[in-house]
Amino acid sequence: MTDAITVLGARLRFGETAALESVSVSIPQGACFGIVGESGSGKTTLMRAMLGLQRLDAGEIRILGTPLQQGRAALRQRARVVQPIFQDPAASLSPRSRIRTLMNEVGTVLKEPHAATHERLLVILKRLGLPDSVIDKYPHEISGGQARRVAIARALLVKPSILIADEPTAGLDVSVQGDLLNLLQDIRRAENITLVVISHNLAVVRLIAENAIVMRAGRVVEGGEVGPLFASPRQSYTRELFAAWPSLASNNKGR
Ligand SMILES: Nc1ncnc2c1ncn2[C@@H]1O[C@H](COP(=O)(O)OP(=O)(O)O)[C@@H](O)[C@H]1O
Ligand SMILES: [Mg+2]
Repeated sequence: MTDAITVLGARLRFGETAALESVSVSIPQGACFGIVGESGSGKTTLMRAMLGLQRLDAGEIRILGTPLQQGRAALRQRARVVQPIFQDPAASLSPRSRIRTLMNEVGTVLKEPHAATHERLLVILKRLGLPDSVIDKYPHEISGGQARRVAIARALLVKPSILIADEPTAGLDVSVQGDLLNLLQDIRRAENITLVVISHNLAVVRLIAENAIVMRAGRVVEGGEVGPLFASPRQSYTRELFAAWPSLASNNKGR
């Protein structure tokens, strides 16, 4: 089967910083794929490149087998296939618009009557455990956890094949982090979406992903099935990431 996302030899520099260097990744369709690495290792840059929001200096990215193209028309078309959930959901919601306006924009893009979008939205909100009343709220009137779920709702409303979530648990209370990951996983299974989860936290990736890569300083240092990868990491860097999460390392036999 064609990969959901293929990255071939991606390279990108910001001045002296090698944000991406020789990055090649194959993300299979229909599974959950993890991208893990310390802060500054290039995870968000790779995500932006996969979305076509960041041009590469060299290399190629294919979405469902089709090479990424620049330009507004290509971006619009791609948005229907791959949807991001950015790290700071509040920042990606327009502060002056009610949530309703944001959701109606999706319907407009899909050329769907507002009533039909609204019907689908109600189903999605229920599934995400959000009250219908959020529709009439402004972004500042909802909590951080709700803002993240609103961002997920908006992404799902597009009916994408691929969802890329950057640090989906960041800023959330520890008690609800696991709930959110389980929710993403349930949705992925029900909708048969390819889910890419980016996190600096190994525990997150280990919990949710089947396959993962470990990034460091713009490079992929290792990758593979999450069980073996995290049970016996070959790279000292991955072991060090583990050492930062000791409870995880000791619980690691469960998987
Ligand atoms: N727009 C930018 N301009 C300059 N440097 C950047 C920019 N975006 C990211 N970087 C740098 O690229 C590296 C990778 O950043 P990033 O992809 O955000 O890492 P991560 O998401 O893993 O924390 C870092 O050194 C960061 O400072
Ligand atoms: Mg990041």
